[in-house]
Amino acid sequence: MKSLSLPTWLVLFVLLPACASVQSLPEQDSAAAKLFVSQCRACHALPHPGRNSPDEWSHILAVMDQRMVERFGKGLAEEERDVLLTYLRENAR
Ligand code: HEC
Repeated sequence: MKSLSLPTWLVLFVLLPACASVQSLPEQDSAAAKLFVSQCRACHALPHPGRNSPDEWSHILAVMDQRMVERFGKGLAEEERDVLLTYLRENAR
């Protein structure tokens, strides 16, 4: 019997688990994760923290704050922004 090639093993044991983990949020039960869920899916699907680098998150969060001001007339409170930024940067890629 032909044994499985290295690329096949990579797909089975590296790529598939990586895809599966995209479904669940880091530190799901923390206050920060809950704030993230409540604030960040009003306008689009919840983005995974691992999709961006820490510096990208700093920029994106500032833009999102602006989008909230445009849409709701109110952005994030300062401490909410701090909590979210820390959470996103800690769990960034
Ligand atoms: C008021 C609506 C609104 C809320 C609330 C909102 N977003 Fe967005 N988001 C947008 C819009 C609109 C875009 C499309 C890009 C743009 O217009 O800047 C976007 C795009 C994004 C993108 C893709 C941008 C890129 O450059 O890859 C990310 C990531 C994102 N939002 C994260 C968040 C996070 C994190 C939060 C919570 C803090 C959040 N969003 C809350 C409106 C919102």
